[in-house]
Amino acid sequence: MKIFIDTANIERIEEVNSWGILDGVTTNPSLIAKEGTDLRTCVKRISEIVDGPISAEAMSMDAEGMVKEGRELASIHGNINVKLPMCLESLKATKVLSSEGIDVNMTLIFSPQQALLAAKAGARYVSPFVGRLDDIGQTGTDTLAQIVNVFYNYDFGTEIIAASIRHPVHVLEAAEFGCDIATIPYDVLVKMVSHPKTDEGIAKFLADYNKSKN
Ligand code: G3P
Repeated sequence: MKIFIDTANIERIEEVNSWGILDGVTTNPSLIAKEGTDLRTCVKRISEIVDGPISAEAMSMDAEGMVKEGRELASIHGNINVKLPMCLESLKATKVLSSEGIDVNMTLIFSPQQALLAAKAGARYVSPFVGRLDDIGQTGTDTLAQIVNVFYNYDFGTEIIAASIRHPVHVLEAAEFGCDIATIPYDVLVKMVSHPKTDEGIAKFLADYNKSKN
């Protein structure tokens, strides 16, 4: 499974990139706003750090505007794909952008039917939101599993990005299902590194080493 980081924070992207596990980056308007930056500056800077797909969200609500914005975003760097929110206008825009070789990440996916339509329109990625389904009392990973199963039957060439990841178990389930990508916030990535038994083991080895030196 490929690992993307879900943030617009440059320091965190640089740090996780140095871990050697990072395959790409997703941003969204809320994450960009949190950093007090603008989309163009932010994704350009990210493209200088990470050699992999970077999602940048278009904000137009009509297909024509999405296509125009999408072309502009894609012109910033060859690794940038255009995030569009699932709706009819986005489907139309996806058809046009994908025919021009511009990758679309269809976001705000909450059902397998939405994912199916996005794939049919030519989306390179679909982003089912796991945590936000949990938030309303549904099981987000059930929907993710359904999408993985549906896509397994066909040859769409669309990759599934497990998004709205809130904790390491979401990541584990995405990997068990065979999801292509998980886009993971920094704090969840940090949690995935550690285990109390690892910490305990390191402390013991260090203590024993120091004893044997004396
Ligand atoms: O990738 C989408 C993600 O940023 C949404 O996460 O936690 O705001 O639901 P969240």
